Amino acid sequence: MSLFLDALRGSPVPRRPLWLMRQAGRYLPEYRALRAKHDFSTLSREPSLAAEVTLQPLRRFPLDAAIVFADLMSPIAALGIPFDFAPGPVLESPVRSAADIASLAEPVRGEIAPEVMETLRLVKSELGQRVPVIGFAGAPWTLAAYLVEGNGRRGFPALRAMAAGAPEILTSLMERLADLVVAYAKDQVEAGADAVQIFDSWAGLLCLRDWERLSRPYLLKVLEGIAGTGVPRILFFQDAPHLVDAYAALPAEAVSVDWRTDVPALQRRLNGSKAVQGNLDPALLLAGPETTAAAARDLLQRVAPRGHVFNLGHGILPDTPLASVEALVEAVHGEERERGDTVH
Ligand code: CP3
Repeated sequence: MSLFLDALRGSPVPRRPLWLMRQAGRYLPEYRALRAKHDFSTLSREPSLAAEVTLQPLRRFPLDAAIVFADLMSPIAALGIPFDFAPGPVLESPVRSAADIASLAEPVRGEIAPEVMETLRLVKSELGQRVPVIGFAGAPWTLAAYLVEGNGRRGFPALRAMAAGAPEILTSLMERLADLVVAYAKDQVEAGADAVQIFDSWAGLLCLRDWERLSRPYLLKVLEGIAGTGVPRILFFQDAPHLVDAYAALPAEAVSVDWRTDVPALQRRLNGSKAVQGNLDPALLLAGPETTAAAARDLLQRVAPRGHVFNLGHGILPDTPLASVEALVEAVHGEERERGDTVH
């Protein structure tokens, strides 16, 4: 019995589930305290520390899912690519040529981010069946963005230059990334992940026509590759209102949309075929608890409860007041008190 897993399957629930992207992190004083002692790489590479950080938000708030504390770049080490965080990912040398791709290591299952699997096992043994745990991976396009650009430079111009000037190099990289992501996600399910979220944070960089050619085939390969695990697949994409229907047509149990998308209109187009996750603007929490509560109530009122997983439209910001998160939890939990029975 889990509100989160039930909602992802489109089953009726007493109230909608709530979790927050980046719920483990810098807005929590207990995270900042640990982070003062260890750098981010140590926190994410040491399973006992990563498990502790994963559990921190659940000790403070009654959230309906945990998400394993790792990074989008965690599986990339298995390709033999050195990188660091400053604070976003920075590569020693970007992947730009056919020779760069040929020199990538061929990871096998079991060798991809074993620390993430150990973290999942630790978190599962602590949470048991009480709270489901989400595993995650980057979409091939978003991973390629960091590998080709070498960092998170706004707009990823080197990536877009490669997409235009050497698309065959880009797609050969994405082919390798799709295989990596499938193996990594399967390992996470074996280690205990109850759902998998694919983060395509930089989806919006491509127009629909280029997306269909350069990104869609690899995303499809990932989603089809993990279908057999039987766990729900959540597809997150960002800053891409022009691609909403294209993403909504892909094989996943849920799409996770940002605040630019009108959820009720999307629900009408989906007609119950998928769950929708989202989509409060994370910046709105900076305006304080009253604004947060009002916006949350408005979303609850407008969005049909069936198949809705409450979340933000993107990661929670480091300067978010705890009182805003409390107000959000209170508003979402308020739905059950008001209705007093199962919502449909
Ligand atoms: O959601 C969670 O609580 C799990 C943790 C998580 C992190 N990164 C920890 C992290 C998750 C799900 C991610 C995914 C991730 N990482 C994405 C996809 C989601 C998104 O935000 O679009 C991306 C693009 C990255 C790459 C990345 N890692 C960036 C851009 C940065 C720096 C800026 C930032 O947003 O924090 C990181 C570092 C990072 N990953 C931190 C954390 C908590 C900050 C490290 C620190 O403590 O200094």
